[in-house]
Amino acid sequence: MALVTLFDKTFEPYLPEDLIQEKVQEMASVINKDYAGKKPLFIAILNGSFMFAADLFKRIELEAEISFIKLASYKGAKSTGNVVTAIGLDADIKGRDVVIIEDIIDTGKTLHEFIPQLLNQQPASLKTAVLLHKPDATKYPVRIDYCCFSIPDRFVLGYGLDYDGYGRNLKEIYQLKGGE
Ligand code: IMP
Ligand code: MG
Repeated sequence: MALVTLFDKTFEPYLPEDLIQEKVQEMASVINKDYAGKKPLFIAILNGSFMFAADLFKRIELEAEISFIKLASYKGAKSTGNVVTAIGLDADIKGRDVVIIEDIIDTGKTLHEFIPQLLNQQPASLKTAVLLHKPDATKYPVRIDYCCFSIPDRFVLGYGLDYDGYGRNLKEIYQLKGGE
């Protein structure tokens, strides 16, 4: 693993591929146990979670479904804050055991705003499976049920996560180099 330079920034190796795969397997094993006998619906949030979602879902041994959504954030006409809407949520989640798959919880704002919308549709249960969590950056309360890595508040790249659209294809996770 060498340094990666994108635009003006340099990133250094942080989480190697085999460690990521090991943690994803551990998470899948726990979910397989927790949902034994159930038919959960996984909802992966694009774009960042696509690689994690694929690796996790391959290891799910339940009769499970997966659906992919995008979250679009726009300024509400009357409210001052942003409003998050889901694009592509065609599955009926009423009465389903839903597991949200997200790449990273940073401030927590995205899921903090989105989860209540899903709860409105009365799923039987709702849990979150996240690859990365930056606890020092999290300002909004968000439930995190399954998490692979708790990391410091530094920008990360790779394994689905991007910097201005690039770097998603890296197999490992890189971290912004110290001093930048
Ligand atoms: P939140 O709403 O602040 O929790 O932001 C979550 C979203 O911001 C994630 O789904 C990512 O797309 C993006 N994000 C936050 N931190 C990083 C990072 O370090 N690298 C790449 N994307 C990030
Ligand atoms: Mg994301």
